[in-house]
Amino acid sequence: MYTGLQHLHSFFAYLVLLALIVAVVHALQGLLGKRPFTPTSRKLTLIALICAHLQFVFGLVLYFISPLGIRNLSGETMKEPMARLFALEHPVIMLLSIILITIGYAKAKRATVDAQKFKMIARFYGIGLLLILSRIPWATWL
Ligand code: HEM
Ligand code: HEM
Repeated sequence: MYTGLQHLHSFFAYLVLLALIVAVVHALQGLLGKRPFTPTSRKLTLIALICAHLQFVFGLVLYFISPLGIRNLSGETMKEPMARLFALEHPVIMLLSIILITIGYAKAKRATVDAQKFKMIARFYGIGLLLILSRIPWATWL
């Protein structure tokens, strides 16, 4: 169960990054090119949200079964950068990013003007993506 989920979470990270990059680029093109918010725009935005939510659920379960997760949370962990990343920084910042992405999705859904929809996606998904990139364990991933 642990190894399977570890691989799933690791592989799914590629899909999350890809879906977010596509959604942000599409939103920036829409905003700057003054394009209409089409059904494709809605789908790209939704696919990125679903990928982020699914990855969150995988990560949350992993946090409770991985030796690098909650079980490794202690004062000693805080002195060791890699251990602190897995047990604290990665989960907290990823949660924050996904909350921002979800807020962006909800704001875009409620907006009535197309440019405003694109702006919410570009801003909230964009910041979420940057935060995610800042706390990926690059040293062990890829
Ligand atoms: C967009 C969200 C997320 C992305 C892109 C992401 C990505 C990753 C990546 C790339 C790894 C490294 C896997 C490897 O070294 O092979 C990892 C590990 C891990 N992630 Fe996430 N993650 C996300 C959210 C979360 C959340 C919300 C939690 C917990 C609440 C979490 C908990 C963990 C844990 C505990 C590990 C270490 C697993 C182990 O090797 O034992 N992740 N994550
Ligand atoms: C603990 C896990 C989860 C939490 C806390 C959560 C939370 C939320 C919240 C607060 C929203 C509302 C966004 C809005 O106001 O429009 C939302 C929307 C959504 N979530 Fe999640 N989610 C979780 C897991 C999942 C999973 C596993 C999936 C998919 C497999 C998923 C798919 C969706 C979809 C498709 C929407 C958009 C619905 C719409 O069009 O309004 N979520 N989620």
